[in-house]
Amino acid sequence: MKDNQQELFPIVNEEGAVVGKATRGECHGGSRQLHPVVHLHVFNAQGDVYLQKRPEWKDIQPGKWDTAVGGHLDYGETPDAALSREVREELGITDFKPQFMGKYVFESQRERELVYVHRTTYDGVIRPSKEELDGGRFWTMQEIRETMGQQVLTPNFEREFQRFFLDKIEKYRLLTEQIRALIEGETDRLAVMANVCAAIHETMGFFWTGFYRVKDGELVLGPFQGPVACMHIGFGRGVCGTAWKQRQTIVVPDVEQFPGHIACSSLSRSEIVVPVFSEEGEVVAVLDIDSKELGTFNDLDGQYLEGICSLLTPLF
Ligand code: SME
Repeated sequence: MKDNQQELFPIVNEEGAVVGKATRGECHGGSRQLHPVVHLHVFNAQGDVYLQKRPEWKDIQPGKWDTAVGGHLDYGETPDAALSREVREELGITDFKPQFMGKYVFESQRERELVYVHRTTYDGVIRPSKEELDGGRFWTMQEIRETMGQQVLTPNFEREFQRFFLDKIEKYRLLTEQIRALIEGETDRLAVMANVCAAIHETMGFFWTGFYRVKDGELVLGPFQGPVACMHIGFGRGVCGTAWKQRQTIVVPDVEQFPGHIACSSLSRSEIVVPVFSEEGEVVAVLDIDSKELGTFNDLDGQYLEGICSLLTPLF
């Protein structure tokens, strides 16, 4: 098998708008015309990461372990359509929920790619394509860390994984330990909430981080870091009131797409809200975090922030 050098790819600007077209051969032959690709990182429920082995006949990085799914957009194809197609073709998966993590420009001597990064958690059967891949398997995070820099993984995977996953995971791990130590033995709720939001805000560099407490049937502003914010939010109102009503974490990749979102600041573009539960299982507060960028949060943030909020439960 061999790549078809005549295949047509779209040429895009850094925002992703199509500005032309070129063949695979032109895109990979040193012309360095920016062309879009989609990537999917597949995690299982334990947090292991599926990697595919690139076959020896590939024109770029043969024989290396790489992101679970990666593929070029065909000319005229959207990133979402390309992702569904590639995931089906490479791993035989049709029932997955992708989360968009962001996009960036990857540059090498031979090419420039606009990479649309996604992740998913998937525990179903994976059937790597016999034609396109040389197999695949799940790797633990530890194994990936130890293998980095050994010429076994593609440099593209190493850089992307560090930036989108390891950096965030490492920060959340440290943060969780810091908060655990910070609040040990402390019984004053307000003091704990104040320091928890300060620690999260400082470590993660978010735009707004704070608590709303359930008080007299509504949410009332509690300790926070960032610009001044609305002080009262009703049950079921906005993202915060909805997280309270549904008793679950809500991730909003684009606040303009969330009906009823309450804009405390026009700069906020994406948001996550995590409920805090009492020992009896009542929602007693919500942790609200805002970002100035779109799509900052996904279920990875949810998982770690829920862990942090559960450390507050013994206080209520
Ligand atoms: N956006 C929130 C309101 C709180 S501020 O973001 C600080 C909401 O829709 O509930």
